[in-house]
Amino acid sequence: MTGPDDLAAQLDPGRFPRDFVWGAATSAYQVEGGFDAGGRGVSIWDTFARQPGTTVHGDTGDIACDHYRNWREDVALMRDLGLGGYRLSVSWPRLQPGGRGALNPVGVAFYRELLGTLADSGIRPLVTLYHWELPQPLEDAGGWPSRDTASRFAEFAGLAVEALGDLAADWITVNEPWCQAFLGYESGKHAPGRRSLPDAVAAAHHLLLAHGLAVRAIRGASPRARVGIADLLTDVVAASSDEADLAATARYDANSNRLFLDPVLGRGYPDCVHELYDRRGLAASVVAGDEEVIGAPIDFLGVNHYQRVLVHADPADGHLGAVGVPAEPATTSLGWSVTPDALRSVLVRVSREYSPVPIYITENGASYPDYVDPTGQVRDVERVSYLASYLAAAAEAIEAGVDLRGYFHWSLLDNFEWGEGYRSRFGLVYVDYGTQRRIPKASAAWYRDFISRHRRRA
Ligand code: FCB
Repeated sequence: MTGPDDLAAQLDPGRFPRDFVWGAATSAYQVEGGFDAGGRGVSIWDTFARQPGTTVHGDTGDIACDHYRNWREDVALMRDLGLGGYRLSVSWPRLQPGGRGALNPVGVAFYRELLGTLADSGIRPLVTLYHWELPQPLEDAGGWPSRDTASRFAEFAGLAVEALGDLAADWITVNEPWCQAFLGYESGKHAPGRRSLPDAVAAAHHLLLAHGLAVRAIRGASPRARVGIADLLTDVVAASSDEADLAATARYDANSNRLFLDPVLGRGYPDCVHELYDRRGLAASVVAGDEEVIGAPIDFLGVNHYQRVLVHADPADGHLGAVGVPAEPATTSLGWSVTPDALRSVLVRVSREYSPVPIYITENGASYPDYVDPTGQVRDVERVSYLASYLAAAAEAIEAGVDLRGYFHWSLLDNFEWGEGYRSRFGLVYVDYGTQRRIPKASAAWYRDFISRHRRRA
């Protein structure tokens, strides 16, 4: 039997197409810091993280990896890794502090320099326009449950692409609308910390509408732009063949996956979504024509993938009547497990069940309790195994016919993991937050070697 460590040594880079993009990902609030620099406005995350009890240790993104000042060093790290792509997000409140009106020239200059340097380094940027940083004034005006927020976002997207579109061709509208809608407005675990299911459902619809309106605005601003969305796809598996568990699994899947995939890929909301949500805010939010806007053709689908869950029926759960648990015992921090076959499964599902668009894995990775050992190294052997096993699963998906074009590991750097703060480390590169020193981990060395072996074969 081949163990994970053999796999790391043996994984054949020739299983990936020649022009496959090897990348890593971050998001602005999680790495930039510089929260009050250069006229940046306030976002819902600035406000939320300052409230006691919302994040581990009361951590905030005020400083984070101070990428706002250290970005040149970070681009040099990407170059050393041999990355062909880098997924970053632009901060809405840095570019448009109040959420409406003209862009902030200091913010524009920051991203122009960063994107220009990436281009000079041969690294193709994939830029996310919304990675959860809603300007606070827009939340005060109703936030995502309010329809107007979708229009505000589309206007921002058009302006941002007008200002930066000569330096980046690939754009992601919204990152993980599921997390923003349900963690932000139903469970309250993420900003803005509200707790209402109908608000979460309205938010989900308006995030999708924001995506559709932004697709138009981006194409209007830059005809050469390629546009997609980054959707969190969870592999949802029934815990038994019991009828109640199967029905619960279908509802869980409707919430996690189909609420987003179906309308974005041009099918409108499926019956299972109408059944769950029409009376809980959806019917009241949808206006005639919305589904056509949301289903505007996209150039690629971004797949963020982390988990396989086993679902069983639970009448005590008021939302879905279902509970999902990790499919395997947790072997990473945050209680998540390692199930590489789940990645193959979600990729094959999207490509078989929906009309095919090129796919990028826009996030995949794991958090481990990494530390600097007495020799000054960070030997994250677990992440090496994780990476090799998920890449092997991605190769299997390609072999099964999936049009997979690239892989962006989450994350380039350890960073501010939202409610989990700095305790959770997802990076290929370790960050010592007190000194801002970067130490590439063993996983970074493995990834660099794998990328260079792929390049040599191509
Ligand atoms: C995803 C987020 C990303 C990061 C990873 C671990 O849900 O998009 O910002 O926090 O999880």
